[in-house]
Amino acid sequence: MGYNLLKGKRGIIFGALDENSIAWKTAEQVHEEGGKFVLTNAPIAMRMGQINDLAKTTNSEIIPADATNLEDLENLIDKSMEILGGKIDFVLHSIGMSVNVRKGNAYTSQNYSFTQKGWDVSAGSFHKVMQVLYQKDAMNKWGSIVALTYMAAQRVFPDYNDMADNKAYLESIARSFGYFFGRDKNVRVNTISQSPTPTTAGQGVKGFDGFIAYAEKMSPLGNATALDCANYTVAMFSDLTKRVTLQNLYNDGGFSNMGVSNEVMETFMK
Ligand SMILES: NC(=O)c1ccc[n+]([C@@H]2O[C@H](COP(=O)([O-])OP(=O)(O)OC[C@H]3O[C@@H](n4cnc5c(N)ncnc54)[C@H](O)[C@@H]3O)[C@@H](O)[C@H]2O)c1
Repeated sequence: MGYNLLKGKRGIIFGALDENSIAWKTAEQVHEEGGKFVLTNAPIAMRMGQINDLAKTTNSEIIPADATNLEDLENLIDKSMEILGGKIDFVLHSIGMSVNVRKGNAYTSQNYSFTQKGWDVSAGSFHKVMQVLYQKDAMNKWGSIVALTYMAAQRVFPDYNDMADNKAYLESIARSFGYFFGRDKNVRVNTISQSPTPTTAGQGVKGFDGFIAYAEKMSPLGNATALDCANYTVAMFSDLTKRVTLQNLYNDGGFSNMGVSNEVMETFMK
C-alpha cells in the first residue's frame, strides 16, 4: 500500500543488479510511493539484462554508468535531468565491491591495486557522485542522498576484509560532503547501516551464512530484510525526514546496541 510519500519527486537509483539487490527493492518501493527515477548500473552489470525487467515494471529508463568514471557520471546526471524533466530530489548509492574478497585474499595479505580498486568502487564513487551533483547544481532544495553501509565500519568482522575500511571511508564522506551539501544547497546526506542481507554482494563475503544467522540471533527484532531497507530509504527520501543529515542510521533489528542475547548465550551454556 502506498502513501504517495514521493509523489512529484525525481531521483537516480544506483546498484539494482537482480531481484535480491537492495536497490531493486528500493526502486519498487519508490515507484509504489509515486517517485520517478532513472536506474543506473555499471555497463558490465547491464549484460546480465535483468535490470530491463525492473525498468519495465517501474516505468523507468536505464542509463549505464561506471560510478568511478566522472564522464559517465556527468552524462548520467545531465541525461537524468532531461528525462525526468528537472532537478533531482533523491539519490541512492547502493554500490559495493572488493576485489580482494573476490580473489580470496585475506585482510593480512592484500593486493594493494585490488584494495585501491575496491575503495574507488565502494567509497570513492560516493564522493564522485556527490561532487558531480554539487558542481552541476543538480539537486533540488530539501533533496536527500543515501548510501548503504555495514557495521563493520565500527566493529570487527574479520571476513568483511577491506570492505570494512571502505565503509568507514564511505560514512566519513557522507558527513564531510553532507556539511557542504546542507550549508550550500539544503540537501541532506546520510548512510543507512543495514543487517546482513542475502544479495550477490552480501553472499560474496566468506562465512556469510554464519554471520547472517548470528546477527539474526543477536537482534531483538531479527535481521532487517532488503524490503525493510527499501522502506527506510523511502522514509529518508520523503519530506518527513527533512532535517536528518550527517547521520549513520542503523536498520539492523537492534543488533548494533546488543552485547549478547539469550539465544546466543544458549549455544555456550553447558
Ligand atoms: N548484502 C548485505 O549484507 C549488505 C549489508 C549492508 C550493506 N550492504 C550494502 O548495500 C549496497 C548494495 O549491495 P547489495 O547487497 O544490494 O548487493 P548487489 O550485489 O545486488 O549490489 C551491488 C551493486 O554494485 C554495483 N556496482 C559494482 N561496481 C560498480 C561500478 N563500478 N559502478 C556502478 N555500480 C557498480 C553492482 O553492479 C551491483 O548492482 C552495497 O553498498 C553493500 O555494501 C549490503
